[in-house]
Amino acid sequence: MQKTKLGLAICGSYCTFDKILPIAQILTENFDLTAVMSENAAETDTRFGCAETVKKKLAEITGKEIICTIADAEPVGPKKLFDVMAVAPCTGNTLAKLACGIADSAVTMACKAHLRNGRPLVIAVSTNDALGANAKNIGELLNRKNIYFVPFRQDDPQGKPTSLISDLELLEKTAAAALEGRQLQPVILGQK
Ligand SMILES: Cc1cc2nc3c(=O)[nH]c(=O)nc-3n(C[C@H](O)[C@H](O)[C@H](O)COP(=O)(O)O)c2cc1C
Repeated sequence: MQKTKLGLAICGSYCTFDKILPIAQILTENFDLTAVMSENAAETDTRFGCAETVKKKLAEITGKEIICTIADAEPVGPKKLFDVMAVAPCTGNTLAKLACGIADSAVTMACKAHLRNGRPLVIAVSTNDALGANAKNIGELLNRKNIYFVPFRQDDPQGKPTSLISDLELLEKTAAAALEGRQLQPVILGQK
């Protein structure tokens, strides 16, 4: 039987890369995985690591070229490349663009192309301004057709009072529910 096609889009929340890579590996058991990376994720070396190393690991895990330009992302729509797509991690920057209908990166273009087919898009937030400047964008997207959230929590209410992080361990369950047209609940998790 053919595996469900999952597009895994990775944005520039660099501290989350070491968490999403092992999850991507696990996802290959049940999904035919294709990676998408924002230009910022694909090209920026940070204190959390080197972009080329992450790209190499993702290519090994998926066995495919990574989509990391707008031109490469465009066929996601017409060729119906994914049954379900996940932006994990999703930065505040990409959240804001998605809420406003902006498609100026490989990830936002892939999302726009995927959504035009009426297929589910899953978002895993990872941003310090989720309960600040981006709160309105999360609210907007929570209320948008075909968009689902990986359940999230405040990761450090005292130290980073406006930060939210999705529990990436719930990504697969969220995608499965999204494929059935359901939001995995509870969407707001308690303290760990
Ligand atoms: C070291 C480092 C870590 C960052 N971590 C995050 C993060 O966890 N969440 C976030 O929203 N932005 C984070 N940023 C900022 C984003 O990378 C930046 O907003 C970028 O424009 C995101 O682009 P993208 O959404 O196209 O990937 C970080 C930046 C740097 C340099």
